[in-house]
Amino acid sequence: MIKFGGKSMKLLQLVILVVVSVSLVVSADEDAFLGVNIGTDLSDMPHPTQVVALLKAQQIRHIRLYDADRGMLLALANTGIKVAVTIPNEQLLGIGQSNATAAHWVAQNIVAHYPATNITTICVGSEVFDSLPNAVPILVTALKFIQGALVASRLDRQIKVSTPLASTIILDSFPPSQAFFNRSLNPVMVPLLKFLQSTGSSLMLNIYPYYDYMNSNGVIPLDYALFNPLPANKEAVDANTLLHYTNVFDAMVDAAYYAMAFLNVTNVPVIVTESGWPSKGDTKEPDATLDNANTYNSNLIKHIINQTGTPKHPGIPVSTYIYELYNEDTKPGSVSEKNWGLFDPNGKPIYTLQLAGSGRTFANDTANQTHCIAKEGADSKMLQAALDWACGPGKVNCSALLQGQPCYEPDNVASHATFAFDSYYHMMGKGDGTCDFNGVAMLTTTDPSHGSCQFFASDGMNGTFLNSTLSDMNSTSSSTRRGHSGYAGVGLLIKALLAVLFL
Ligand SMILES: *[C@@H]1O[C@H](CO)[C@@H](O)[C@H](O)[C@H]1NC(C)=O
Ligand SMILES: *[C@@H]1O[C@H](CO)[C@@H](O)[C@H](O)[C@H]1NC(C)=O
Ligand SMILES: *[C@@H]1O[C@H](CO)[C@@H](O)[C@H](O)[C@H]1NC(C)=O
Ligand SMILES: *[C@@H]1O[C@H](CO)[C@@H](O)[C@H](O)[C@H]1NC(C)=O
Ligand SMILES: *[C@@H]1O[C@H](CO)[C@@H](O)[C@H](O)[C@H]1NC(C)=O
Ligand SMILES: *[C@@H]1O[C@H](CO)[C@@H](O)[C@H](O)[C@H]1NC(C)=O
Ligand SMILES: *[C@@H]1O[C@H](CO)[C@@H](O)[C@H](O)[C@H]1NC(C)=O
Ligand SMILES: *[C@@H]1O[C@H](CO)[C@@H](O)[C@H](O)[C@H]1NC(C)=O
Ligand SMILES: *[C@@H]1O[C@H](CO)[C@@H](O)[C@H](O)[C@H]1NC(C)=O
Ligand SMILES: *[C@@H]1O[C@H](CO)[C@@H](O)[C@H](O)[C@H]1NC(C)=O
Ligand SMILES: *[C@@H]1O[C@H](CO)[C@@H](O)[C@H](O)[C@H]1NC(C)=O
Repeated sequence: MIKFGGKSMKLLQLVILVVVSVSLVVSADEDAFLGVNIGTDLSDMPHPTQVVALLKAQQIRHIRLYDADRGMLLALANTGIKVAVTIPNEQLLGIGQSNATAAHWVAQNIVAHYPATNITTICVGSEVFDSLPNAVPILVTALKFIQGALVASRLDRQIKVSTPLASTIILDSFPPSQAFFNRSLNPVMVPLLKFLQSTGSSLMLNIYPYYDYMNSNGVIPLDYALFNPLPANKEAVDANTLLHYTNVFDAMVDAAYYAMAFLNVTNVPVIVTESGWPSKGDTKEPDATLDNANTYNSNLIKHIINQTGTPKHPGIPVSTYIYELYNEDTKPGSVSEKNWGLFDPNGKPIYTLQLAGSGRTFANDTANQTHCIAKEGADSKMLQAALDWACGPGKVNCSALLQGQPCYEPDNVASHATFAFDSYYHMMGKGDGTCDFNGVAMLTTTDPSHGSCQFFASDGMNGTFLNSTLSDMNSTSSSTRRGHSGYAGVGLLIKALLAVLFL
C-alpha cells in the first residue's frame, strides 16, 4: 500500500514541512488550556453569581460565553477566570457594516469590563458559514472593525479576535494530509487566515466526533470517536505521512492544520471552541449515553492536559472548550441537543468525570461511584488472561471468586474479571490507566455489586486530588502522574513473563 522508493522525496519534503510548521506554531502551547462553554437556554438558568460559584468550586479557569452578558461579566470580575465573549450572529451584520457600531460594541461590552473581568478573546459570530450565509461577505470586515476598536482602546495585545468555524467546512478530512477547506469558501478563508496570522490569533474550530461518528454509517468505530484504545490493525494511518491516528479529535485538528497549509498558512494555531458528547438521546441516538459522554469528556480532558498534542504536532496541546457547562433544556431539536451539559441547574454533576490520577479536579471527582468492569463483548481469552494477571501479579484478593464464596456466581469469565478489575482499580487508588487491562476493561458509574457479592467500596479521595487546576498546562500534569504498575500499554505476555521472573 505504501511505496517507499518513488515517494521518498515527497516524504522527505513532507517531513521538512512538518518540522518547519511545528517550529512556527510551537508558541501555541504556552497558553494551552481547558475551558468550558456556557450556554444559557435553560428554563431555570442559574444567577450569574451561582454560575461563578460553580466555576470556582470546580476550578474552571477558562470559559466561553455565547454573548457578552453584562450580569455574567460583572459576576466574573476579579475572579481571575479568563473569558471568551461572543458577538451573537444576530449582531454580526450590523457590526460588519459599520465601524462605529463595532467600536460601540467594544466600548460597551469589553472596555467597560476590562481588566476587572479578564476578557481574553472575542468570538465574532458562531459557525457563520453554516448558520448565517448572508453575513459571510462581511465576516472578515467585522473581525477587522472589532480589531480596530481594540487597537484604538489599546487592548489588542491582551484580547484576541477570531470566529468559531464548524469542522464541516473542512472537506476530505481523512487522511488529514489531504484535507482542504471547501474551495468555494476560499475568497473568505484566505483573508480570514491572513487576518489571524497578522494579529497572532487562532483558528477556532468546533469539533464533534459524536456527529462524525453518527454520520459515518458505521465507518467510524465508536471507540475511535471516544478516544478509547483501538487494536493496532484498526488504527487509522495517513498513507502520505505515515502518522497513526487513534481518535477522531486529533484527526480533525490535524486536518485543519493541513487545510491551512494548503493555503500556505502554517503559523496559525488551532483552538477548539467546542467539543463534547451528549449524555442522553432519543431512540435514534443510541450512543448518546451517560457512559459515552463520560468516556468522551474524561478522555478529552486527559488528552488535553496530558499535553499529548496531535500526531502532526506532538507535544503541542490544543486548547479546548468543552461543550458545555449546563444541560440546556429549552434548546430546540432532538433530545441529545438538550443533554450536552456536565451539570444540572443546581450545579449537580450529570456524571462524575473519570479524571482520577490525572491530578485534576473537575465535576467533583470526589464521589466514589466509579467502577471498573469487563468491557461488553470483550474477547474471553483476553479477559481470562487479564483476570489471571489481576489475581496473580496484580495482587488482587480473589478469594471471593472461589466456589462457595459470595462472588462465585455467576460463574463466567466476564463477571469474575469485573470483580478483579474493580478491586485492582480501587486498590490502585483509581489511578490513571489502572482500568484498561489491554483494552478489555472500562469505567462505569454503575456499581456492579450484586447480592451478597459486594465490590470494593469507598477508597475516599486517595490519589485523586492534587489541588491543582485545569489550567496548569505545565509539566506538572505529566510529572505528577503516578508511576503505577498498571496493565495498560504493555503486552500481556511480556507482563506475565516479567511477573513470573520477578516474583
Ligand atoms: C488575564 O489573563 C492573562 C492570561 O493568563 C494574563 O496574562 C493577564 O495578566 C490577566 N489579566 C488580568 C487583568 O488579570
Ligand atoms: C474604525 O474605527 C477605528 C477606531 O475605532 C479606527 O481606528 C479605524 O481607522 C476605523 N476604520 C475604518 C475602516 O474606518
Ligand atoms: C461548499 O460550500 C458551498 C457554499 O457554502 C456549499 O454550497 C457546498 O455545499 C459546500 N460543499 C460541500 C462539499 O460541503
Ligand atoms: C501557495 O504557495 C505556492 C508556492 O509558493 C503557490 O504556487 C500557491 O499559489 C500558493 N497558494 C495560495 C492559495 O496562496
Ligand atoms: C499521556 O501521554 C503519554 C505520552 O506522552 C502517553 O503514553 C499516555 O498514554 C498518555 N495518557 C493519557 C491518559 O492519555
Ligand atoms: C463538590 O465539591 C465542593 C468542594 O469540595 C463541595 O462543596 C460540593 O458540595 C461538591 N458538590 C457535589 C455535587 O458533590
Ligand atoms: C461513597 O461510598 C459510600 C459507601 O458506599 C457512601 O456511603 C457514600 O455516600 C459515597 N460518597 C459519595 C460522595 O458518593
Ligand atoms: C481475602 O478476602 C477474604 C474475603 O473475601 C478475606 O476473608 C481474606 O482475609 C482476604 N485475604 C487477605 C490476604 O486479605
Ligand atoms: C488514604 O490512604 C491512607 C493509606 O493507605 C489511609 O491511611 C487513609 O485513610 C486514606 N485516606 C482516605 C481519605 O481514604
Ligand atoms: C489549594 O490551592 C489553593 C489555592 O492555590 C490554596 O489556597 C488551598 O489552601 C489549597 N488547598 C489545599 C488543601 O492544599
Ligand atoms: C510551571 O513550571 C515552572 C517552571 O518549571 C514552575 O516554576 C511553575 O510553578 C509551574 N507552574 C505550575 C502552575 O505548575
